[in-house]
Amino acid sequence: EAAEKGGYEHFMIKEIYEQPKAVRETMTGRLAKDDSGVTFDELKWSKYDVAAIRKIAIVACGTAYHAGIVGKYLIENLARIPVEVDVASEFRYRSPLIDDQTLTIVISQSGETLDTLAALKEAKNLGSRTLAVTNVVGSSIAREADQVIYTWAGPEIAVASTKAYTTQLIVMALLSIYMGALKGALSPEKIHQLCQELKNLPGQVHELLEDVEPIKTFAQQYGFNEDVFFIGRSLDYAVALEGSLKLKEISYIHAEAYAAGELKHGTLALIIEGVPVIALATQKDVYEKILSNIKEVKARDAVVIGVGLKGDTELAKYVDHTIYIPATGKFLAPILSVIPLQLLAYYAAVTRGCDVDKPRNLAKSVTVE
Ligand code: AGP
Repeated sequence: EAAEKGGYEHFMIKEIYEQPKAVRETMTGRLAKDDSGVTFDELKWSKYDVAAIRKIAIVACGTAYHAGIVGKYLIENLARIPVEVDVASEFRYRSPLIDDQTLTIVISQSGETLDTLAALKEAKNLGSRTLAVTNVVGSSIAREADQVIYTWAGPEIAVASTKAYTTQLIVMALLSIYMGALKGALSPEKIHQLCQELKNLPGQVHELLEDVEPIKTFAQQYGFNEDVFFIGRSLDYAVALEGSLKLKEISYIHAEAYAAGELKHGTLALIIEGVPVIALATQKDVYEKILSNIKEVKARDAVVIGVGLKGDTELAKYVDHTIYIPATGKFLAPILSVIPLQLLAYYAAVTRGCDVDKPRNLAKSVTVE
């Protein structure tokens, strides 16, 4: 096992560091070299195939579900197709309105999650076209779906998903551009810009991983708090959900994620002196809004760690600590902003002496209901 960890203490940290390579592999052969667009040899859809999709249903569990939430945002914005996202265990039992004009996308690292597999079968029974986004070649979900996009993240051993998530986000971005182009919803300039931003990602992920010391220090400083809150708006909210799942899963710290605009509707009652709040502020169109939410929690004496884009000179004035990610467009920011949160969870778990790769009560793949 030590050999498999390649010198790292845990599989999770090894897999975090494999992300520059993993995201590059996911794009290889799909992103045009001249940044002119995206191809999927495994799909080969025509503009008529995409025009026939009236609605997309994304179904998944856990971290893969969080990738689905990002997927909804990207597909709706870039391809202008309505998207619903469900956790598989809910989708199965809620009589979903799915038909032959629906494309159901299931996302699963393992391809073996029972609820996701059952949801996929339910969607097929209802006449939906189905597409699996998975990491495991020949898995049950890959075999059951009409079409498959592999994430090519390489084997993920740690129970806490890291590189599978970032590569799922890459697939969501590629698919959104692919469908948006076929639908005529994106200008060639916009496609070019998005492709360039995608191409920059592996290097930017690498850059992020070069200096993890500040994050290690925060984890050591706040690792013994019993409650942590994550707030964000828009795509930052999706990342907040993933950051909080990661933290609770491996460090057993009670963590909650909130759409920052919801604070006043209940959660603010829990914000008291010294409570750590991780505030994501990478989305320009809601930037002023998140700053005012940060002011709200600061007024209750929370300790705020702000996650912002490099070059942002405002954020530091409002928060106690800052983490900066390399600057990218709003659609791809989640792929970078989740990485400090993965590291925070990892170092908090290490600080607390938890079994990082095999957290209590959890299995890598949930093959029972
Ligand atoms: C992620 O850190 C979790 N261990 C868990 O939520 C996981 O993402 C979920 O069980 C879904 O697994 P899958 O992607 O293999 O279907």
